[in-house]
Amino acid sequence: VRAGSAAQEFECPASAFAETVLSVKHYTDRLFKFRLSRPPSFRFRSGEFVMIGLPGEKPVWRAYSIASPSWDEELEFYSIKVPDGPLTSELQKIQVGDTVWFRKKPTGTLVLDALIPGKRLWMFSTGTGIAPFASVIRDPETYEKFEDVILLHTCRDAAELTYGQELVEATRGDELVGEEASKKLRLFSSTTRETTDVMGRQTDLMASGKLFEMLGVPPIDPATDRGMICGSMAMLKDTKAALEGYGLTEGANNRPAEFVVERAFVG
Ligand code: A2P
Repeated sequence: VRAGSAAQEFECPASAFAETVLSVKHYTDRLFKFRLSRPPSFRFRSGEFVMIGLPGEKPVWRAYSIASPSWDEELEFYSIKVPDGPLTSELQKIQVGDTVWFRKKPTGTLVLDALIPGKRLWMFSTGTGIAPFASVIRDPETYEKFEDVILLHTCRDAAELTYGQELVEATRGDELVGEEASKKLRLFSSTTRETTDVMGRQTDLMASGKLFEMLGVPPIDPATDRGMICGSMAMLKDTKAALEGYGLTEGANNRPAEFVVERAFVG
């Protein structure tokens, strides 16, 4: 029995919502996305995450960035599939009509409020770390605050880049932000294992200067550039060090600064 199809047997905790799976799309044997109905009372800021669990006696809760914008009627999530993962081994089997639980309180640091004003916004991501930025790039405020918006996505293989490519294409055609996104938003994707046109880790491409050359922008400068980072623990650490090397300082919700890091959903 799939955990999500047996919801009626378990009582959803008062601290969580029980929502219906509206769609599921599998990208590779490691990646999939799903959409849930959105409770009318649920509010969040673009870039935040919630704790997700499947109905059960003792649910396993894991942090998931909300990959849809705060104005959307549905909630989107982008997930890895880990064969023996306590949550994702079951979550990857969900089907339309199943029930997924999520805790009512959203939180997170990858929010525009945690950055001081600037000219250019860099969103550094690897793998499923692109999820919070799927929300941020569809928020009109992003384009009110920045004149140049660069989303970087690096994965091992080309197939893992599909989600980001579809996302940016859809964002450029979006009714609300499409016009602004078409002018200001750029996607920089690269692979590190499969051979493609653009290869290399973001950290290496910054260190060599190739990244700035390819994008036609000057190197990162604390006077103009702001950053958001989301990926594996090692990637967070190295990207943070790179930004600090350019003179940027890390901010938080209560202390906005030049870049922010999401440490919630790694490990
Ligand atoms: P690489 O193939 O060189 O390890 P993963 O699936 O392991 O989370 O990796 C996703 C992407 O992040 C891969 O392209 C990987 O490159 C890259 N990556 C892994 N560690 C780092 C790091 N410390 N800094 C930058 N990129 C990294």
